[in-house]
Amino acid sequence: MERTFVMIKPDGVQRGLIGEIVSRFEAKGLKLAAARLEVLPEDRVVEQYREHMEKLFFPGLAAYIMSGPCFLMAWEGKDAVAVVRRMVGATNPAEAAPGSIRGDFGLDIGRNVIHASDSPESAVRELGIHFAPGELVDYSRIDEPVIYE
Ligand code: PPS
Repeated sequence: MERTFVMIKPDGVQRGLIGEIVSRFEAKGLKLAAARLEVLPEDRVVEQYREHMEKLFFPGLAAYIMSGPCFLMAWEGKDAVAVVRRMVGATNPAEAAPGSIRGDFGLDIGRNVIHASDSPESAVRELGIHFAPGELVDYSRIDEPVIYE
């Protein structure tokens, strides 16, 4: 089983999309391992997006992420990183496939609703930025024997 880091950005929280998005991951069969609503401090935003620090969009991205509460989550399941990325859709919501979260709920790359780790290595790194090991809860979903072969 694999875990991935997912973050509903302030536009998604303010638009009341937390329940819709959590429902999609739950219905898919993924298991919620941790969740927290939080206004992120600057040091964790910089750590999260450190590979983009030199990009022109970085100051605007950081200000947007800190503009209100984000909903941070850890989701677990078979191939969770790739599965969640497909469910999230392309970075630019205008190009994201209908049926994906960004494709259904966004229009602007600078307000793209949600972040999800892009590789298993990123997932480990990002989960470590935002969650202490003890916050990741280990339990079974009652439907796991039906979800998995
Ligand atoms: S790049 O340049 O291809 O490496 O960047 P990309 O992977 O497309 O995006 C990296 C993250 O930056 C966000 N992004 C933006 N935010 C605000 N404004 C603009 N113009 C912008 N362009 C890219 C993008 O959503 C990615 O963040 P996450 O949270 O990973 O989706």
